[in-house]
Amino acid sequence: MGKNPATATNTANLDSHATEAGPAAASTPRAASTSHAADAASSPAPYLQVRDLCKHYGEGEARATVLHDVTTTVSKGEICVLLGPSGSGKSTFLNLVGGLEAADSGSINVGGTELTSLTSKQLGEYRRDKLGFVFQFYNLVPDLTIRENIEVTAHLSANPLPIDDLLHSLGLYEHRAKFPRQVSGGQQQRCAIGRALVKNPGLLLCDEPTGALDYQTSKEILELMENVNRDYGCTVVIVTHNDAIRHMAHRVLRLRDGKLAEGTANVERMAARDLTW
Ligand SMILES: Nc1ncnc2c1ncn2[C@@H]1O[C@H](COP(=O)(O)OP(=O)(O)O)[C@@H](O)[C@H]1O
Ligand SMILES: [Mg+2]
Repeated sequence: MGKNPATATNTANLDSHATEAGPAAASTPRAASTSHAADAASSPAPYLQVRDLCKHYGEGEARATVLHDVTTTVSKGEICVLLGPSGSGKSTFLNLVGGLEAADSGSINVGGTELTSLTSKQLGEYRRDKLGFVFQFYNLVPDLTIRENIEVTAHLSANPLPIDDLLHSLGLYEHRAKFPRQVSGGQQQRCAIGRALVKNPGLLLCDEPTGALDYQTSKEILELMENVNRDYGCTVVIVTHNDAIRHMAHRVLRLRDGKLAEGTANVERMAARDLTW
């Protein structure tokens, strides 16, 4: 498995495709195993703005309010870690921001687009053009090779990243002709990240991306996310119930029973490789 997904060489190749400036894009590649301070002085533009977001499921006695008046902002180019116990509304929040479900009330603005006023066709275009989604269980197409799984998404995009460069970045180039069942879980997740990234999305939403992985592989995937945030400048939201992951974030949100219980900016960030749990 590739342990250094974004080498200096292929990072340089791919930098020209980054679309956004933000805290990550502005930073220089870090030295190994150092923590780095978030630059609180330069506050980049908001990229994700959520206001008074409410969502319920069911009706009558079965009615359950899953998100209550959630208001938060994530800046362009930030890594946001969204924490909370199981059932606290994390996936629902992500699905609303990802345009997969409709809010009851409130507003969700992503890069200047107000999702709550889009038609379903426009929501489809938003998902296609602006969004990458990564799930706990990869959701790769079993009959397509690693490269083809990424290529399928590239075809949806008007301006996809070069697939072979991306495969190098992901440490998957040598595995490109294999089928998902022939590679490890970590490699399948790398492929899923590649599939989300090949569109060069402004926003990468990750729902428990390390939930099915062992400790070492989880750390490699988190390092990969740190690299893609830095190298591609995309804004990243990582949902997890693993509190240790908060230390690699620019911003930490915590949901408890559908309410935002915490929203903090990290002054000091830890490199993903230094996280322990
Ligand atoms: N489609 C649905 N229909 C009914 N209830 C749902 C649905 N999706 C989620 N829920 C409920 O909403 C609550 C929050 O779920 P979820 O957002 O998946 O939480 P988390 O991702 O934090 O574990 C849970 O109580 C869950 O059972
Ligand atoms: Mg969930």
